[in-house]
Amino acid sequence: MVRVNRLVKLIVIILCCSVLLSFCFWSQCNQPNHINNEDQRPDTGGNLNYQARFHNRDTNSLKNTKDLSTTDLKYHDIDCVINGEYRIKCRRETSEVFVPFSFVQKYFEIYGKISTEDGFEKLAWEHSYSTVHRPREHYSPGGVFMSFEFYNVEERDRVRCISGMEGVPLSTQWTPDGHYYPIQISQFGLSHLSKYLTQGEPEVLILEDGEDDHLENWILPDKRYKLQLQKDKSLETTVVEFTTSDSMKYPGISIPADEKDDFVLCADLRFASNGSITVTIETPNLQLFHIHYVLSSKLISLDGHDIYYGLGERRGQWIHITRTVSVDFDKGLALKFNKVKRTKMKLKVSRITDVSVRGHGWLDNLTLSTTAHLDNFYNAANWLVYHQNDRGGWPIMVQRSLIPGVLELPPGWYSAMAQGQAMSLLVRAYLRTQNTKYLQAAVDAMKLFEIDSTQGGVLTKFADRYDWYEEYPTTPSSFVLNGFIYSLLGLYDLKEVTDGEDSKMASKLYSNGMQTLKKMLLMFDTGSGTFYDLRHITLGIAPNRARWDYHTTHINQLLQLSVIDDDPLFKNTAQRWMDYMKGKRSKHN
Ligand SMILES: *[C@@H]1O[C@H](CO)[C@@H](O)[C@H](O)[C@H]1NC(C)=O
Ligand SMILES: *[C@@H]1O[C@H](CO)[C@@H](O)[C@H](O)[C@H]1NC(C)=O
Repeated sequence: MVRVNRLVKLIVIILCCSVLLSFCFWSQCNQPNHINNEDQRPDTGGNLNYQARFHNRDTNSLKNTKDLSTTDLKYHDIDCVINGEYRIKCRRETSEVFVPFSFVQKYFEIYGKISTEDGFEKLAWEHSYSTVHRPREHYSPGGVFMSFEFYNVEERDRVRCISGMEGVPLSTQWTPDGHYYPIQISQFGLSHLSKYLTQGEPEVLILEDGEDDHLENWILPDKRYKLQLQKDKSLETTVVEFTTSDSMKYPGISIPADEKDDFVLCADLRFASNGSITVTIETPNLQLFHIHYVLSSKLISLDGHDIYYGLGERRGQWIHITRTVSVDFDKGLALKFNKVKRTKMKLKVSRITDVSVRGHGWLDNLTLSTTAHLDNFYNAANWLVYHQNDRGGWPIMVQRSLIPGVLELPPGWYSAMAQGQAMSLLVRAYLRTQNTKYLQAAVDAMKLFEIDSTQGGVLTKFADRYDWYEEYPTTPSSFVLNGFIYSLLGLYDLKEVTDGEDSKMASKLYSNGMQTLKKMLLMFDTGSGTFYDLRHITLGIAPNRARWDYHTTHINQLLQLSVIDDDPLFKNTAQRWMDYMKGKRSKHN
């Protein structure tokens, strides 16, 4: 044991020295900063293929370079043997030994890259690839949620697209077909509200709203097509009636846009026949594509330069659509090209050229804007109200395997994290609208917190004693930390806005959970990072260390909790966990 520790110490000392002398094996370390986290250690020793080059800081002076490299610095090859497992080629220069950074990087799971600073090359390395977002000093159940204004849920690869029927993301996590995942939907809504609260109102370009008895400059390619203003008596507003062929073979009635910044389309539409609304976009290399929003229940499809999103079979009623065209374009092309290809082919929106409609119907409030955060927020809140079942839950309709064959949940499971994140969202929707349907849904979402996970609820106990709300209610329990804390934040939000019996129940669930958290938090502390869950305790297997982005989630959560609970445990622990991100470790005996 002692010898191994010394060896590790020696290596660390060698590493530090190698940086000081800015000796760099640049062809190897010029890698992306965020290399992924797969446990890849160097495979065999001896022939790690690296090329060392000496870089003189004063690159302008050739003479100087020559002098230094030929006279002042002399080095020769030396083998390094690491833990008796690897043998690699290093370099020795008098009493110092230099180890290739490419080896060090993999061996110690660190992240480094070369950049320039004041004209000089430098190698910077980090122990973690994640960032901690400090929460605001005040927390309120109607305000920004944690640091979710930095989240871009819909852009994630595991979001198939934003459904034209529901206005919320469809997840491909755990199933390629996609499913409506209440956690993702709540996070989508919470991120949009948090962005709205931090960014403010968007810029809005009105293309047509039928106001002032005046039609904008529409293009009618066929004499038989008609366009006119009409009073909508029930809405007491002027709308635009359009009549064209509904066939995609013919161009519809269009309005030019030439918009280079505002890529969010909003419109109120009512179709009497089959019909559609189409956005034409241009890419940086001047290709044109059409995104059609059609009255069908087919989620998404791509056919050459045409992308189709189904709005559902919603004829005869007013529908409000909010579409982030740039995201819709990207998800449409993702059906055929992977991300690398899309970037290489420059497949992104650089301009919206026009918007057109087909069929017979009415339209109003046709706009392009920078964002439409509130629309997205309400779409998520309304989805939750509409899809909550009589147990107050949002069942997750895919199989989830934490450990295949051991920790599995068949489709239809509930998640305390989903319930909690939904509460946080619904409470915010209630506070903005005062509409009690949102509050009632949040209150109903508590029911599953009282039902044991073996009975289809989300409640478990640690050591038969401490109440814990499970993100994944497996048997035996998994005790996933971040999901538990999200559920506590939901209960906190709810207890703050309810009164009477509802408030009593939310407060009880919250304080039981917080008591558990305070007792159990440090079980997740490894001395150099955190555990994602407690499977090593419940299953007697190897622990599941949290990767850095989950580790930073833990820290962000503790920092948020420290704002609403002044127990120093949260602040102190968060500080120590931040130190772990710099490679610091807790003291040993
Ligand atoms: C309406 O038009 C769209 C687009 O052309 C088409 O996909 C859909 O099948 C049509 N629906 C009906 C009911 O004809
Ligand atoms: C268009 O927006 C105005 C202002 O928000 C609203 O009063 C009107 O009802 C909207 N039109 C439709 C058809 O929903």
